[in-house]
Amino acid sequence: MKIGNIEMGNTPVCLAPMAGTSSVTFRAICVQQGASYGPTELVSARSISYGNFERSFRYMKISPSEEKITAIQLFGFEPSDFEEAVKAICSDDLLKDVDIIDINMGCPVAKVVKTGAGSALMNDPERAFRIVESTVRAAESFGKTVTVKTRIGFGEFGPASVEFARGLAASGASMVCVHGRTAKQMYGGEADWNAIRKMRDAVASEGVKFFSNGDVKDEESALRLLDVTEADGIMVGRAAMGDPWIFARIRAALDGRETPPAPSVREKCDMLIRELKGTVSNIGETTGVKEMRSVMPHYLKGLRGASGVKVELCRATTVKEVEVILKGFCDTWI
Ligand SMILES: Cc1cc2nc3c(=O)[nH]c(=O)nc-3n(C[C@H](O)[C@H](O)[C@H](O)COP(=O)(O)O)c2cc1C
Repeated sequence: MKIGNIEMGNTPVCLAPMAGTSSVTFRAICVQQGASYGPTELVSARSISYGNFERSFRYMKISPSEEKITAIQLFGFEPSDFEEAVKAICSDDLLKDVDIIDINMGCPVAKVVKTGAGSALMNDPERAFRIVESTVRAAESFGKTVTVKTRIGFGEFGPASVEFARGLAASGASMVCVHGRTAKQMYGGEADWNAIRKMRDAVASEGVKFFSNGDVKDEESALRLLDVTEADGIMVGRAAMGDPWIFARIRAALDGRETPPAPSVREKCDMLIRELKGTVSNIGETTGVKEMRSVMPHYLKGLRGASGVKVELCRATTVKEVEVILKGFCDTWI
């Protein structure tokens, strides 16, 4: 299956972009476990268009050799910012090999919405479509593919949501991914897969690829989401935090193979350390350990005796400290 000019293989299962989680290290880990790819977290098109790479670079960092398919996600309000951002990315030595530019039209966070970007674009469809057109124009000249990630609506799902999806496809997006919540819902309540399905029908009639997203918790829910929405692929977000093995399990279920064995406690701790060390090598030990505090406890989810260890991990300041804490924990399991 192809998205634009990128070969994806059968039924892509991707890591959803998540600010604070979708680092280049974690994306590479997920791809190794079977994820098709994962976009970076959202990065401001305006700040890149102003040449402000210094602040944004760490969020845009890609590793084509490890990730295989790479995607940078941009958010913004002005179509010209996207055009300039694409040109800047495609002219940068370390970013120019990116495959996909993904446009964020789903972020519900107030500081993004109040600038008219993210999910606010669902309330301003004409602008949203101009953003897609401008991005596609700039990206095409570098041979890059453009995708959009959005939601089932801003305040509520309705005919306007379906028209919005159709408009994104008609404006030149090669793939539209829909998260089954409205912006008003943020991350609460349940994803409405039937609403996603209605948006999928509109996009499919334009001959454009469609991904669904929201509330995949395991391989069984992944297969159900694909079934209900008849999507070409899916994105998995929160369930992958601390559990990159979910991609191997979903892949096995899709291929009709047996579920791979669950990782041992030691394998979980080793993977945590691998993600931590990768993060630290990119952004330094002080910031890296601090930012991993919200991620590390996920690796120990559901493990007996882990609650005290999770608290200790959230106080750690060095890799060594984390290693000592985890060694003590693993030893209790042998
Ligand atoms: C902490 C966090 C950060 C997120 N950051 C982004 C982001 O940068 N860009 C984006 O398009 N979606 C972002 N999302 C939304 C996810 O990509 C996804 O749509 C949402 O979590 C629903 O999928 P899930 O139920 O599989 O988690 C974020 C979600 C979470 C929980």
